[in-house]
Amino acid sequence: MSDYYFNIKTKRPEEIYQNVFEYFKDDQIIKYSTSKSMMKIQEKITLRALEIIKIQPKDLILDAGSGCGFSSIVLNKLGFNVVSLDIIKYLLTYYPIPELNPTLADICLTPFRDETFEAIISISALQWIYTEPNNPKMENELNDLINSFYRILKPNGKIIFQFYPKNNFIMEKIGSAFKKNNLFEGNFIIDHIKSPKKRKIFLFLKKQS
Ligand SMILES: C[S@@+](CC[C@H](N)C(=O)[O-])C[C@H]1O[C@@H](n2cnc3c(N)ncnc32)[C@H](O)[C@@H]1O
Repeated sequence: MSDYYFNIKTKRPEEIYQNVFEYFKDDQIIKYSTSKSMMKIQEKITLRALEIIKIQPKDLILDAGSGCGFSSIVLNKLGFNVVSLDIIKYLLTYYPIPELNPTLADICLTPFRDETFEAIISISALQWIYTEPNNPKMENELNDLINSFYRILKPNGKIIFQFYPKNNFIMEKIGSAFKKNNLFEGNFIIDHIKSPKKRKIFLFLKKQS
């Protein structure tokens, strides 16, 4: 796919802010967490991710980069056992969600035992990890995330990411990093490919044993 399809005119927050803590501060946290339209969009993306990943209710799922829980709540209502993980405490605790097992941690260093989860769902978070190709810190963090997700997934476990890569190059770099060393098999699924506004990019991966 050529970069023509990306054609994104406005910069996204992860391109403007140095890190996620700079962006998600008090006002922005309240704005995000109380936005009904944001909640609806994230719910819709989560349901589409579930269509792709095909997992069974009662499975134990990690929601990686859960924020205030828009995706986790959908998963919980559908009968999945959910662990919501985020790096920003105020987002994670904005709503009381004890049933979602809120866990304050970095998605690159997940604090769980080996082979804990049947699946990992991550909606609109991965773009914060890798925004600049050939940046050694970001390369390391992406590798940490891949190794960490591999370790905590059960055999044949699955991952679905929905994210906003800045361009095709970054998207492909992330895809091939997951497939390195045969840790994962998978592919991109892109909805509304020609519309920069409506486009949704999913990366669906299966753990290889
Ligand atoms: C756009 S929000 C999406 C939140 C949620 N998935 C949803 O659909 O509403 C991106 C989230 O990723 C989280 N995030 C970014 N980098 C992270 C990291 N390294 N570890 C854990 N969470 C991270 C942010 O704190 C934020 O809550």
